[in-house]
Amino acid sequence: MDNRPIGIFDSGVGGTSVWREIEKLLPNEDTIYLADSKNAPYGERSKEEILQLSIKNIDFLLAKECKLIVVACNTATTNSISYVRKHYVVPFIGTEPAIKPAALQSKTKTVGVLATKGTLSSELFFATSQNHAGDINKIVQVGTGLVPLIEAGKVNSLETRELLQTYLAPMLAEGMDYLVLGCTHYPYLIPVIKELIPANVEILDSGAAIARQTVAILKENNLLANLDNKGIHLFYTNANPNILASFLTDVDANYKTAYLDF
Ligand code: DGL
Repeated sequence: MDNRPIGIFDSGVGGTSVWREIEKLLPNEDTIYLADSKNAPYGERSKEEILQLSIKNIDFLLAKECKLIVVACNTATTNSISYVRKHYVVPFIGTEPAIKPAALQSKTKTVGVLATKGTLSSELFFATSQNHAGDINKIVQVGTGLVPLIEAGKVNSLETRELLQTYLAPMLAEGMDYLVLGCTHYPYLIPVIKELIPANVEILDSGAAIARQTVAILKENNLLANLDNKGIHLFYTNANPNILASFLTDVDANYKTAYLDF
């Protein structure tokens, strides 16, 4: 048993969509979440910059004695996970676009993937696509502009809707029946996306799978918290804490948000 916190980081507020799934399955775990919003979007940065930012976040979480790190960011995972797994002893859970389940379940064999430039141009995404969705028609689209809009709290704006419409139209024209959201910010767009696509198109994100994997790795390493531990959750942002808090208003857990310069 180990009551140290789970560390979670993202380039900003998006990884809270992953945190939600983790808290659902592991209500006794304490967590520390880092929203590196000052440096968002990661998706437009070079691989080296993404790696250096990931290392900064990981070092901060390890200084807070985290027992496991969840990289709640596809862009950070696809550009840094193999390096950090080699250089740190703590277990890592990474986030990747759910193209494998989409490919397996798609009837039209046509899958749309919306993700950042950093994710879609990564070697890991290329390898996963080849290995698990090689025979599938993949319509990949960089979601340019979406992360900054979400970081500004403009989830329901006309600008967001119009960008989504532009990005989704070619996927629909080709007959996709699965849409993979390959960025942890995008689950917050699901209500808008649902208004733009037919009901028979399934939307997949990775949050629930990440949470299941977190449970499995904690168990395997004997790192689960005591069942009588009450989960306490700290959310740090190096930008506007009110925006981060606005993504958590419906959360029914013991949490605090705060500004921190990390
Ligand atoms: N949430 C990050 C992801 O999953 C967004 C990346 C960005 O900041 O561009 O990819």
